[in-house]
Amino acid sequence: MAKHGNPLGIDIGGSGIKGAPVDLATGTFTAKRLRFDTPQPSTPEAVIDAVAKVVEHFKDEIGDAPIGVTVPAVVTHGTVRSAANIDHGWIDFDGELALETKLGRDVTLVNDADAAGYAELHYGAARDEFGLVILTTLGTGIGSAILYNNLLVPNSELGHLEIDGNDAEKDAASSVKDALGLSYEEYATRLQRYYSVLEALFSPDLIVVGGGISKDADKFLHLLELRTPIIPATLQNKAGIIGAARLAAEAAGVKVKPKKG
Ligand code: BGC
Repeated sequence: MAKHGNPLGIDIGGSGIKGAPVDLATGTFTAKRLRFDTPQPSTPEAVIDAVAKVVEHFKDEIGDAPIGVTVPAVVTHGTVRSAANIDHGWIDFDGELALETKLGRDVTLVNDADAAGYAELHYGAARDEFGLVILTTLGTGIGSAILYNNLLVPNSELGHLEIDGNDAEKDAASSVKDALGLSYEEYATRLQRYYSVLEALFSPDLIVVGGGISKDADKFLHLLELRTPIIPATLQNKAGIIGAARLAAEAAGVKVKPKKG
């Protein structure tokens, strides 16, 4: 009989493909994370081969448990619909079906920021928060997750709001800070504009700031003037893996003890 192990989360990013099995009771990894460089070009075929290597590595640990995989793109019903920061071969590609065919098991394919937001909601910075939570990830682009009363509203893509005539992530992603050599004060001016628009459009109860730069949140979050509390994410680069594993388990009908509202 197949062994039921812990679900596996795999995060496909622009530079790395990272995976680990996740204990859903605690939202922690049950084995050391494995990472491969993202193949370049990051075509679906090349990336799926790398994902298969991650699954093979953890096969004893996960048994026949479901697998959650993130992509930095819109995903509707398993099909990828955009490709701002990955190979354009993903557009209109049924990634979920292709992964299931390659791996011979259930896969849930999900937007990277949605997975990260779901993890922060259940195990991280937004854990005790009910109401409307918006998580943004500041990185190569800007990802977003909208969470309302513990539910995820998927594919919000708030990094592509048009603000002052520009695609917001082209002005306010942390990659822009790096590329232009901006100080935290200069970067905060851009974030102020971005988060003011988010606040005006959504009136959230809480904004959570994720992505690699969130570990330096004490250098810039206090510079922002907003009505809405804005706090750093706590799960850092583990969030995508944890959220993907949980979403996959829930999609497969695994009962995870619900958080109290
Ligand atoms: C993509 C989103 C993604 C975000 C972070 C954006 O450019 O459109 O789907 O969540 O980058 O990777």
